[in-house]
Amino acid sequence: MAVHRNQNGSITEQFKADVDKGLSAPFKFLLSRYFYDARGDKLFQDIMHMPEYYLTDAEHEIFSRQGADILRRFDAGGSFDLVEFGAGDGLKTRILIKRMIETDTPFTYRPIDISDDVLAALKFDLKLAYPDLEVIPEHAEYFTALQNINEQSDRKKLVLFLGSSIGNFAEDRTRAFLDALSSKLSKGDTVLIGFDLKKDPEVVLRAYNDPAGITAEFNLNVLRRINRDLGGNFALDRFKHYPTYNPESGFARSYLVSTRTQDVSIEAMNKTYLFAEGECIHTEISRKYDKPQIEALLSNSGFSVKEHFTDSRGYYVNTLAEK
Ligand code: AVJ
Repeated sequence: MAVHRNQNGSITEQFKADVDKGLSAPFKFLLSRYFYDARGDKLFQDIMHMPEYYLTDAEHEIFSRQGADILRRFDAGGSFDLVEFGAGDGLKTRILIKRMIETDTPFTYRPIDISDDVLAALKFDLKLAYPDLEVIPEHAEYFTALQNINEQSDRKKLVLFLGSSIGNFAEDRTRAFLDALSSKLSKGDTVLIGFDLKKDPEVVLRAYNDPAGITAEFNLNVLRRINRDLGGNFALDRFKHYPTYNPESGFARSYLVSTRTQDVSIEAMNKTYLFAEGECIHTEISRKYDKPQIEALLSNSGFSVKEHFTDSRGYYVNTLAEK
């Protein structure tokens, strides 16, 4: 069958190389960006609606109650670009967009996402709601999009990186991303970044281990995708979703644990990968921060924090920082 193609019909060479690298490593891993095909996007939407997944509610509350304050602190002083990394369905951003339109400051919305499906839906929805709003979507991986962020226009920028997406990066990538972003921005450009805060470890763990099993399905979706796009034969019922949280480091990590000794073969690589019973595949990092860590992180990359906007439970923060 050898299905070396994704839903868009493009060749998945990068996916193939990344999967082979991850499954050949002494400690197996898969990159979390591969959760997000059409089914993964849908599962993540479902996750955002779960009561256990407090992150979405918290960010929504911050934008509803403090959106006007956030925009006042940004103070574009003229037309600007609203650039968003990992736009997703843009539901939360819409609260900000609505407020911005009300202030009569002209801006162009530039959502960047790794999912074509999500971008198309977002553009469609926004066109319906705000026919005059200029929306220029870019389908790209974060680090690629960063490279030409300042080639689109020389207007002032407000860069959004919401939903705790920054928590998905490994430590060195977080630094690399912020450094690269800072180097591409001009003085006065502003970032608004959503960070999930350290809190009761049981609250965190529940968010990644819901009783309905939606997060488990989401995690297993990467194996389903390997089966479909690369001709893999993963038996999904032989892998168990296992989330962990270390309250000291703030790292939430998710794994898929092999429940038995087994071989998995993948046609695209023409290879078989051996799993011991209890061996795991690391699939995701969802890092939690405290405010001093956030401030250190941003100032190390040349940003100065203007204000932290926190929800009423103190679970989450949107930090506004200026280059
Ligand atoms: C979209 C990356 C912020 O890490 O909390 C949700 C993804 N994974 N449940 C997160 C996710 C499991 C989410 N981010």
